[in-house]
Amino acid sequence: MVTLKSLDRTLSLAHNLAMRHGTFIVIDGIGGCGKTTHAKLLHARMRKGTVLTHEPGGTPLAEKIRKLILHNLIPTADVTTEFFLFWTARAEHMREKIAPALRAGRHVICDRFDSSTFAFQIFGEKHPELTKLFWEARKVVLGKYEPDAYIILDIPVAVAEKRRAGRPPRKDRFDDNPRAFQGRVRAGFKTFAEEIGQCAHIVNANRAPKEVEQDILRIVSNY
Ligand code: TMP
Repeated sequence: MVTLKSLDRTLSLAHNLAMRHGTFIVIDGIGGCGKTTHAKLLHARMRKGTVLTHEPGGTPLAEKIRKLILHNLIPTADVTTEFFLFWTARAEHMREKIAPALRAGRHVICDRFDSSTFAFQIFGEKHPELTKLFWEARKVVLGKYEPDAYIILDIPVAVAEKRRAGRPPRKDRFDDNPRAFQGRVRAGFKTFAEEIGQCAHIVNANRAPKEVEQDILRIVSNY
């Protein structure tokens, strides 16, 4: 029998289910595309309480994994080991930081995310056999907290290289890779965007920062 009380509970549950979580935006692209700058600019435009985070990293443990990978601290690591390390760091990042923020109704902007694993490890490093595993890992690690939008900043490899050359030197083994590698990564981001469908947006980043920013704001305002 449907009592007033049970009806009330059902309605309240339905309301909770329908309540929107925060919006999850990823900004990604090859090194030198301007993603970190644009993630910061977007963050400054979003409402108070919006979380700005990055990958690999975002939590103390994930930052340790970042160091292990980017500073080559596991000399015997191959692409498969790195692939799992990126997913380990991401699982931690999701559970500890991203999912709780979204649940609390806060928006999250993430500088790099799983789109980078797809582009760098599968395309850049030429390991297509990891593709199936990628989509499986994604299901388990992201669960219902898939990003609402991926903004991929696209730029020719030579232009990105010039921009990177103007930065202070830093130790990142992926940025040091040759042009052919960066070209494969760029293609990887495009393939990822095709696979992901509607929520992926490729933005031409080979323009003045103001124009790129306007495109990003236009995309984000739709969410
Ligand atoms: P960042 O310092 O530009 O944020 O990124 C660190 C490096 O890590 C960058 O060269 C890309 C690489 N990377 C991967 O290879 N796979 C991944 O899944 C992520 C998140 C980053």
